Formats: sequence, C-alpha cells, structure tokens
Amino acid sequence: MAQIFSRSADTWLRLTLAGVFLALSGSLMVVLMFDRSDYRTQRGWVVDQPVPFSHAHHAGDLGIDCRYCHASVETSSEAGLPPTHTCMSCHSQLFTDADVLAPLRRSLANNTPLHWQRVVKLPDYVYFHHAVHVQAGVACVSCHGRVDRMPLIAKAEPLNMGQCLDCHRDPAPNLRPRDQVTSMSWTPPADRRQLGEQLMQAYHIDTRGLTDCAVCHR
Ligand code: HEC
Ligand code: HEC
Ligand code: HEC
Ligand code: HEC
Ligand code: HEC
Repeated sequence: MAQIFSRSADTWLRLTLAGVFLALSGSLMVVLMFDRSDYRTQRGWVVDQPVPFSHAHHAGDLGIDCRYCHASVETSSEAGLPPTHTCMSCHSQLFTDADVLAPLRRSLANNTPLHWQRVVKLPDYVYFHHAVHVQAGVACVSCHGRVDRMPLIAKAEPLNMGQCLDCHRDPAPNLRPRDQVTSMSWTPPADRRQLGEQLMQAYHIDTRGLTDCAVCHR
C-alpha cells in the first residue's frame, strides 16, 4: 500500500495521540483525586514553624498538660498559643544555646512574639468556641487526634460541617468527665453511652437547637 506519510511520521503521529490521551486522562484523575484529597481538607499537612516545636516530645514524652501552653482553652473561645516566656520557663535552663532555639532567644531579647503559623483553621464564616466544648466534656483528641504522637502538628480530623453536626445531633457517646478532656489515653467504660447520658445531665447539655444554622453561622 502506498504510504502518504513516511513510516517515521506515522510513528510520531501515534506517539503524539497517545501522549495527548495520557495527558487528558491524567488531568481528569488529578481533578478527581484533588476533590477527595487531604489537600482540600488540609488533613495531615504540616506547616513550617519558626521553631520546630514537637508535641510528641513535650505533650507525649514529657507529659506537659495541654493547658500549660493553651491556657485559655477552658475559659474562652480560643485555646491560645503560648507566649515565649512559657517556653523559657524551661528553656532558660535547658538547651540554652541550641541552634533550633535561636528564634526563641531572639524573641525574648527583642520582646517580639514568635509568629506561629496556624494549622487548624475554620473559614471565617464559622463560629467556634473551645470553652463550651471543654466544659461539656468533649476531649481535645476528638477534634485534634493524637497530638501527643505528632512531632510536627497536623490537622487530624476534617472538622467539616458533617463532623460538627454528627456530634451535635448525638453528643452522649463522645463525652467524658471534664477532668479527662486533655488526656490522650483515657479509656472509656464498657457502656460509654450510659456514662454520656449521665454527663449530659450533670453538665446540663441540651441538644435542642444545637444543629440550628445560627449556632455556627452567626
Ligand atoms: C516543662 C519544660 C518545657 C517547656 C515548658 C518547653 N520545653 Fe522544649 N524541651 C523540654 C525538654 C526536657 C526537651 C528535651 C526533650 C527530649 O529531647 O526528649 C525539650 C526540647 C525542645 C526542643 C528540641 C527539639 C526536641 O523537640 O527535642 C525544642 C525546639 C523545644 N523544646 C522548643 C520548645 C518551645 C518552642 C517551647 C514553648 C512553646 C518549649 N520547648 C517549652 C522542656 C520544655
Ligand atoms: C509546651 C507547650 C505546649 C503543650 C504542652 C501543648 N502545646 Fe499545642 N501548641 C504549642 C505551640 C507552640 C503551638 C504552635 C506551633 C505548632 O503548631 O506546632 C501549638 C499548636 C497546637 C495546635 C495547632 C493550632 C493551630 O491551629 O495552629 C493544636 C491543635 C494543639 N497545639 C493542641 C494541643 C493539645 C491537644 C495538647 C495537649 C495534648 C497540646 N497542644 C499541648 C505548644 C504546646
Ligand atoms: C469540638 C472540637 C474541638 C475540641 C474538643 C477542641 N478543639 Fe481546638 N480547635 C478546634 C477548631 C475547629 C479549631 C479552629 C478554630 C478556628 O479556626 O476558628 C481549633 C483550634 C485550636 C487551636 C489554635 C487556635 C486557638 O484556638 O488558639 C489550639 C491551640 C487548639 N485548638 C487546642 C485545643 C486543645 C488544647 C483542646 C482540648 C483542651 C481543644 N483544642 C479542643 C476544634 C476543637
Ligand atoms: C465530639 C462532639 C462535638 C463536635 C465534634 C463538635 N461539637 Fe460543638 N458542641 C458539642 C456539645 C456537646 C455542645 C453543647 C455544650 C452545651 O450545651 O453545654 C456544643 C456546642 C457548640 C457551640 C455553642 C452553642 C451555644 O449556643 O452555646 C458551638 C458554637 C459549637 N458547638 C460549634 C461547633 C463547630 C463549628 C464544630 C465543628 C468544627 C463543633 N462544634 C464540633 C459537641 C461537639
Ligand atoms: C455545628 C456547626 C454547624 C452548623 C449547626 C451548621 N454548619 Fe454550616 N458549616 C460548618 C462548618 C464547620 C463549615 C465549614 C466546612 C469546611 O470548612 O469544609 C460549614 C460550611 C457551610 C457552608 C459552606 C459550603 C460548604 O459546604 O463548605 C454552607 C453554605 C453552610 N455551612 C450552611 C449551613 C446551613 C444552611 C446550616 C443549617 C441547616 C448549617 N450550615 C449549620 C458548621 C456548621
């Protein structure tokens, strides 16, 4: 058969078509994966911090309670991030000239706070309140995961509307005694719902209206 194109041109045409096909299906895959990925929810991501602070070391190995550094978590909407002098209560004696702590010493010397980058953040149109949850016996671990095992902090839960609503509809099986909210290793009793129902009464938790849009969008 007479060939219009040379053999090599034909091969190039096939290769080009195959390339175009792969590129198109590839980008479709990327779009689909992106929509379901942790990229969108930013789950599991870590962020560069001025000092590579490790929760695994401080909250895990050393067992420092969350409230030592997140001091307003029981009383206000924000948990709060620790000021430099909280770190210095130990690091004025410990690792005093370690390179990783240089930004900390500079912050103290210049009296300028460290700029910690936020990792867990809701969109501005959502209202959240820490103290309400802590007082109701909702544990840090329910929303932030095993922070005591994280060398660098990452978002552990999607914290999307569905997750908020799931618990707001039926909080009982998620509750624990208030004095255990910061514990990462508390083990629930066999009948957790029964304990939860008791705590609902003791803490006067009323689920009526808890799923109203205005609770979180005000
Ligand atoms: C209660 C004492 C205490 C406080 C408060 C404290 N640290 Fe530490 N820090 C330690 C000890 C002890 C180590 C050594 C841990 C190890 O190596 O197991 C350490 C280690 C470190 C290290 C070295 C890397 C690592 O994780 O081993 C960095 C960086 C650090 N701390 C930063 C901070 C910052 C920032 C703060 C304040 C937000 C802070 N620390 C608050 C006791 C403390
Ligand atoms: C020694 C001080 C210290 C202790 C103890 C500590 N944290 Fe932190 N935490 C920090 C610092 C500093 C940051 C900011 C830097 C970072 O994100 O790692 C932070 C950040 C966080 C964040 C991310 C906030 C955001 O949006 O950026 C969460 C969530 C958190 N801590 C939860 C906890 C929980 C839960 C505990 C107890 C199990 C705890 N922390 C114990 C110092 C501490
Ligand atoms: C019901 C879920 C929930 C519980 C329980 C919870 N958090 Fe949070 N936390 C969040 C959400 C959501 C954000 C982001 C808030 C925002 O962007 O407005 C957040 C943000 C934070 C931050 C950074 C911003 C800030 O508020 O200063 C820290 C630190 C933090 N949480 C620590 C804790 C600690 C410690 C506990 C337990 C004592 C705890 N959280 C319990 C959901 C929760
Ligand atoms: C694991 C359970 C749980 C999760 C998850 C949870 N909540 Fe709650 N939340 C509660 C409980 C329980 C109360 C009621 C406390 C009470 O009535 O004393 C509450 C109360 C609130 C309140 C205060 C309502 C009021 O009128 O005082 C706000 C605001 C709120 N939640 C927002 C959120 C948002 C936003 C999320 C998701 C990012 C969320 N919550 C996730 C259990 C949860
Ligand atoms: C318990 C808290 C809570 C309640 C109640 C709640 N929302 Fe939300 N809503 C959220 C959170 C958290 C987000 C942010 C989701 C994210 O970041 O992916 C959100 C996001 C949204 C968005 C943005 C679009 C999206 O899906 O991301 C809309 C629209 C919305 N909510 C409407 C409503 C309406 C309407 C109601 C009442 C029927 C309602 N919400 C009740 C917590 C709540």
